[in-house]
Amino acid sequence: MKRPLLIVVFVFIVSAVMLSACGGGTPTSESSIPKEYAGKTNPYAGDADAIAAGKVLFEAQCSSCHGPGGKGDGPAGQALNPPAADLTKVTEGDDYEFYRISEGGGFAPYNSAMPPHKSTLTEDQIWKIISFVDSLK
Ligand code: HEC
Repeated sequence: MKRPLLIVVFVFIVSAVMLSACGGGTPTSESSIPKEYAGKTNPYAGDADAIAAGKVLFEAQCSSCHGPGGKGDGPAGQALNPPAADLTKVTEGDDYEFYRISEGGGFAPYNSAMPPHKSTLTEDQIWKIISFVDSLK
């Protein structure tokens, strides 16, 4: 009677170990992008008209802080703490850029003056701006 019980216990332990190995992975950097933004991709990637339209929007909405070439050297951006980011150095994906432009930086871990744009720009306009920013890299 003892052996079958041992086998059941053994099988139970092995499957518990396997389950935890598969399910309990360490968080990736993507986990800092909220669910509603994660995985979004730019419908205009590389589109010349979108880049031109994005440039006009960027000059009006972003260059005062980020500078005309996105290098973080706009007149209003350098005095900020933290200073405006050099957007040519952003290595994260479209979804990260879309998230940061939509939500800004007024919360941890950013705690910055980066303003949210989700109520002042349409999704379409944000993607065109991202097309322009990506063309600067
Ligand atoms: C009032 C100044 C200001 C304006 C206007 C502004 N930003 Fe920012 N932005 C910042 C600051 C400061 C940071 C750096 C701190 C942070 O990551 O929040 C930043 C960070 C970012 C980041 C994240 C960069 C990184 O390295 O992770 C992106 C992307 C960005 N801005 C895009 C834009 C775009 C596009 C616009 C225009 C639609 C814009 N910002 C308008 C101040 C500004």
